[in-house]
Amino acid sequence: MGTEIAKRRAAEAALKHVVDGQIIGLGSGTTMKHFIDLLSKKIERKKLNVEVAASSFQVYLEAARKGLKVLDVYSLSEVDLTIDGADEIDSSLNLLKGGGAALTREKILAEMSKKYVIIADYTKLVTRIGEKHPIPIEILPFGWKGTIKRLSRFGRVEVRNCKGGKVGPVITDNGNLIVDLHLEREYVEIEKIERRIKNIVGVVEVGIFSGLADIAYIGYEDHVEILNHNR
Ligand code: A5P
Repeated sequence: MGTEIAKRRAAEAALKHVVDGQIIGLGSGTTMKHFIDLLSKKIERKKLNVEVAASSFQVYLEAARKGLKVLDVYSLSEVDLTIDGADEIDSSLNLLKGGGAALTREKILAEMSKKYVIIADYTKLVTRIGEKHPIPIEILPFGWKGTIKRLSRFGRVEVRNCKGGKVGPVITDNGNLIVDLHLEREYVEIEKIERRIKNIVGVVEVGIFSGLADIAYIGYEDHVEILNHNR
């Protein structure tokens, strides 16, 4: 089953949240590319006055290329809606994010949003956060070895390296490092782990997003499943 079709279906389903006059936060990643394409077409077709705020340089370039009006996030304290992808989603709408190293700006936009809507293909569904991936964490370069030592209480920590285009570690849009934490045991109360990791000095943000998402559209090849808090 093609995940690109599934991603596009999820993106298409989330378009119904877009109305005239909104400021929309944009998460990052490949599913968001589909959403930006569909959003630009909807704006054009319905002659909407919609502005966007980008969570990364990647998505800023994508949005600008499609002719969207991109606002400077420094000038905003609130957005009407944020649409975002995810690496893992559980049935309570907790998320794992950061596969694309944009987790801090994505979480800031999520917190600034009146509504936070997730779009993802079916491969992202999990029974427990951390089931398929290590936990991405953005850390300051200053004192990084000490921060990693403290994070090691929870499991093995790897500094994420670039897979191409640059040698050495991934540097985020904020000028920080990304580490991936392989939890050494399963945690049921994932929001407690989120808080404990966030509490470590040197940690900028953690890719566990508990209790933030309002609704998620999960795309399959032939249908879309809706996850919300009424289930
Ligand atoms: C970016 O850091 C991530 O949080 C993305 O939102 C997440 O990795 C989803 O990406 P895809 O849509 O490419 O799967």
